[in-house]
Amino acid sequence: MSAGFTVAIDGPAAAGKGTLSKAVAAHFGFAHLDTGLLYRAVGAKVLAGESPIKAARGLDARDLEAADLRTPAVAQSASKVAVIAEVRAALLDFQRSFAARSGGAVLDGRDIGTVICPDAHVKLFITASAQVRAKRRFAELSARGIEDSFDQVLADVQARDARDRERVEAPLKPAKDAVLIDTSDLSIEQAVAQAIAVVDAQR
Ligand code: CDP
Repeated sequence: MSAGFTVAIDGPAAAGKGTLSKAVAAHFGFAHLDTGLLYRAVGAKVLAGESPIKAARGLDARDLEAADLRTPAVAQSASKVAVIAEVRAALLDFQRSFAARSGGAVLDGRDIGTVICPDAHVKLFITASAQVRAKRRFAELSARGIEDSFDQVLADVQARDARDRERVEAPLKPAKDAVLIDTSDLSIEQAVAQAIAVVDAQR
């Protein structure tokens, strides 16, 4: 049964949540929401001079299609606005409605299994060592022509992880009932197969 079936996928920066979530959603025919994009869109508006709370309250679908949401500067700005309770509150209803859609949904982020969808049918927490995550993000950014050094990418990932874990509002942590998948030594195919197996076991 997939009516209202929700898969929550959380984890630290550049752990591969996006790739896994897309693959799981495609496999089961579920819709996918990258909730990081909401925070990135707010972060981008703040870099353009708006106040974080106003930006979050006024967010619309077109803001998620902005061209430059995947830059390191926007990622840092996203993690700074993400500590603000009013920003998180402004984004809550949209995420919950998306999760409840008939036909099934996969949401990936930091607090999906703990705060947004505490009753999700499946919760996954995706990790990998900071070195591996920075290596993947470095390759991703290089492929898009963004020439940060590896050390800079690693420092950015670690700074964001620390901010995300230490904040008071919806900190990054696995839900008590989440299944942990460490992808440090897994290929994309292996990680996807593990995630699909966990979902299959709950359907
Ligand atoms: O793709 P990556 O893992 O690097 O980051 P992202 O998922 O796009 O998230 C960007 C930032 O948004 C994170 O560092 C968090 O601070 C924030 N975020 C959050 O607080 N809660 C979420 N559900 C998703 C993202």
